[in-house]
Parts: sequence; structure tokens; C-alpha cells
Amino acid sequence: MHWWQTGIIYQIYPRSFQDSSNANGIADGVGDLNGIIRRLDYLQSLHIGAIWISPIFPSPMHDFGYDVADYCDIHPLFGTLTDFDRLLAEAHARGLRVILDLVPNHTSEEHAWFVESRSSRDNPKRDYYIWRDPAPGDGPPETRLPNNWQTHFGGVAWTYDAPTGQFYMHQFHRSQPELNYRHPEVLPAMLDNMRFWLDRGVDGFRVDVIWLMLKDAELRDEPPNPDAAPDARPFDRIQHIYTGDVAGIHDIIRQMRAVLDEYDERMMVGEIYLPLERLMTYYGNGDECHMPFNFQLIGLPWDARVIGDYIRAYEGALPPGGWPNWVLGNHDQHRIATRVGPAQARVAQMLLLTLRGTPTCYYGDEIGMEDVAIPFEQCMDPAALQQPETYEIWGRDPERTPMQWDASPNAGFTTPEATPWLPLAADYATRNVAAQENDPASLLSLYRALAALRRAEPALNRGAIEVIDLGIEGVLAYRRTAEGGDGFLVVLNFGEEMHELNLHQALGGQATELVLSTELIPSRVVTEGIMAMNGNEGVILRLRQWG
Ligand code: NOJ
Repeated sequence: MHWWQTGIIYQIYPRSFQDSSNANGIADGVGDLNGIIRRLDYLQSLHIGAIWISPIFPSPMHDFGYDVADYCDIHPLFGTLTDFDRLLAEAHARGLRVILDLVPNHTSEEHAWFVESRSSRDNPKRDYYIWRDPAPGDGPPETRLPNNWQTHFGGVAWTYDAPTGQFYMHQFHRSQPELNYRHPEVLPAMLDNMRFWLDRGVDGFRVDVIWLMLKDAELRDEPPNPDAAPDARPFDRIQHIYTGDVAGIHDIIRQMRAVLDEYDERMMVGEIYLPLERLMTYYGNGDECHMPFNFQLIGLPWDARVIGDYIRAYEGALPPGGWPNWVLGNHDQHRIATRVGPAQARVAQMLLLTLRGTPTCYYGDEIGMEDVAIPFEQCMDPAALQQPETYEIWGRDPERTPMQWDASPNAGFTTPEATPWLPLAADYATRNVAAQENDPASLLSLYRALAALRRAEPALNRGAIEVIDLGIEGVLAYRRTAEGGDGFLVVLNFGEEMHELNLHQALGGQATELVLSTELIPSRVVTEGIMAMNGNEGVILRLRQWG
């Protein structure tokens, strides 16, 4: 087994994790690398295996670091390469792996390649990017779009560059021109960027929008989406068959994987939003992504039956040797505690940390941080700013607010004098790490207990899974087993009703012992296989010598 299979991945959004003072002793309200170093002991106490840090590279920050101006350096806001090397060493010393964000689909418009590319039509780097003439016709050239492609942030996917009279293509912000992987020099250059970090000792990459890296060679119009709601935004009214999952993408990914395989024990997890059958192709024959992110728990209704069915479908669709993984949230999705409510937030963590496969946890979810409603005037995210009518749906600031460490002014995220780059949650004085560390019944205590159990028990960190039908509406149950060791039964109540569980019936007479409840109640009697279960409760029972 590899570290990325058995360990939990914890995502840090570096702007929001911990601000430390800069060289002049002044905090700026934006998190940084020295801040992360300060919190490594905390991260270690979560029994996680790795941290994934969202982009920390030089960037004009139009998309908060996902617009990279230099792949081989650190943004001064976050620190220096020396700080990064120290972070890596200190993390490794604590047994924590470090995964960086690689953003190969697009650069910032400030990247040296694009500066050259846009300088003239005959610049040698012109075709590093996707440039097209205005469509034929009347009217000003900037209105004659090359095709019907749209951006994820609202607006068309083409920006006209008057000095050279062509459009460049971008599926995100206009400051994020997309690289042309049909140009023979682009992929080798990106592979060198990977080697730069791998040589420094980085353990792997989370690869941004990996399935979008290749575009249709002919740039054909995307067809209408017959399932679109009448009021859907233009992006959702077309099917993205020429901008994503385009034939040829797997060859690119195999070459990226080959670079990782030049080193020991490195990995990549690909950001991919695709239906199950397509998602699975990104494992390749064990020669593409170590894991394509499985985001379905974010999109599915929070329903025991639906999720049980999906676990079966996902497990059944995995290719031979394909290692599963699960995600409840990230910096692009509304917080899990907001989506399912505080009572179910505990059940959600028990689900994430007991399923088969690598869990990815978003910072702050371990204390139940919720979305923070941010008025439009204070929005920072381009996805909000470009879609003012629907910014509450698409805006991503609410899930990116500063980590709530303690009850002091600014929650311990930054100094009391500094202004955090996004507002803090109103409840930070009560919902914070310090308060939850002192409360044995807190979500943080539950998280630690779950993560410790997962780490200690082979059945949980590598064993098989079998979804079991207990015949109770609103209750999801599954068994985790490993050769020769104890097994576990996980029972999750997605509803508010109490239930009496007849485990005898479900398990065929196995002796059971309650190991952990989401309520963190120390003892509960399981008599003759009968156990009472509260509403919104999840439990883990031990099955002695199962299997
Ligand atoms: C996916 C990232 O997760 C998101 O935050 C970003 O805006 C887009 N890719 C563009 O890089």
C-alpha cells in the first residue's frame, strides 16, 4: 500500500489558513507558508497523511493563485522558496506528505510565455496558446467570436486582443489564457515545471482541471444541452464535448504520470468533474492519474439510499487496481456543514472517514465551519463578480473564509490589527479549534477519533467494503473487512428518527461492540444484537475476527 492510499489528504487554502507576520513584523490578513508551518503540530494531531496546498506561486491573483505567472517560484505574499523548503522538511519530519497544486491548463496573462505569445502573431511562442481570427462577417472584429464556447465564470470563452487582431481562448477568467497542448513544446515545458518541485521533494500534485487540458482541434461549436433548465446560464446550455475529455487527453496524462514514475512514491490526483464511466478512464491502465477525484458526494442528494447505491456503482465501476477516493468539499463548493446542516455534519465526517479509499478533507470541515454569507460588494471571487445576479449560487468566497483557531479578535488567523482578506464567520468565537479541543464531545474530537481509528485499523484504511441493506429507510450501513483482522460495521442515520437496529439479523449472529458514535457517548449496550440508534447518529461497531 502507498501513503496516498492509507492516509487522509487535508486541503489547505493557503490564503485562509494562518497569517504570520512578514519580515517587517506586519501581518497582511492573507495566510502564508510560515503560518502553515506554525500549524503543523495541529495538522499532525488530526492523524492525516498529507496536506495539499492550493496554489502558492507568483500570480496577479485574479483567480487567487489559479492564474500562475511563474510555475517555479513562490508568491511573496506566501513567502519564499526557502520558506517552502522549510515547510517541506518540517512536514516530512512529522510524517506529513506535501501535495502541491499544478495548474497546467492555463497560465496567467502575466506568465512570460503569454507575454511573448501576445506580443506578435509571428512570435515563436504565439501558438503556445489558442489564438483564432474573428469569424467572417460584418461588424466590429471583437464581436465576431470564433465559436460558441463559454466560461465557467460566466461570459464567453474568447477575449479579443486588439494589437494582434485575434482572440485567445479561456474557460475561466480572461486573465487565464489556455495553453495549446497540440504545440510540441508545451507539454515538455510543463513536465519540467513538475520536475522542479519533484526534485525539491514534493510528494505529488493535485492537477487542476486535468480533463480540460486538450481542446477540439477544429474548435467546433458545442451542441445544445437538451437537459438544460429554461433559465440555465449560457455555460449550462451547451454540452462541453469539445472543451473537455477530448480524444488525446489520455496521452498527455500518461506523459505526466511517466514523470512522476521517474521518482519514488510520488502521486497525482486529477480534478475531474465527469460522469462515472468517463471518470474511470482517467486511471488509464494504472498509467494515468493515481486517483481521479470522486466528487459525487458533493453533487448527490444527501439521502442514505442514493448514497448507498452510488457507493456500489462507484466500487463496481473501478478498473482493476484502481484505488477509490472520496471528497466532501473543497474551495469551489459550498461547505458540507452548510449543505447538510450541523447535525448531519458529524454523520458526513463519519461517512468520509470510513468509506473505502482515500478521503480528502477541506480545511475547517473538521470543526464544522459553515459558509459565510458575503454581500456582493465584498465578493472577491471572479465567479461571483462576473455573475452578479446569481453570485450566491456560483460565488466561492463563502467557503474560503479564514480558519477559526480561537476566540481572540480575528480568530487567531491574523493579528487583531490586520484585516482578514475575507470576513470571518460570525460564530468564530464559539466555533473554533481551541474551544473544540477542550470539548470531548466536539466535532473536532470526533474527527480525531475517526482519523485515529482509521489509521489504526487495516479494515478501515485498506479493507474491503460491502453495502448492507438493513431495511430501514434513511439508514446507510456498510461492512469493512480485512483478512485476518477485526471487521467493522458502520451505520449512519441520515434522518432525525430513532431506530432500533437488529444487528443480529443483519450480521448473522456476529458479536458486536460499539467503538464510536458520532455523539461520542462512551458506552452503549448492544444486547443480543439489538441497539438503539438516535436520529442523526452514526455508529461504528466492531465485528470480532471477521473474515
Ligand atoms: C479549478 C479550481 O479548483 C478553481 O478554483 C479554479 O478557479 C479553476 N480550476 C481554474 O483554475
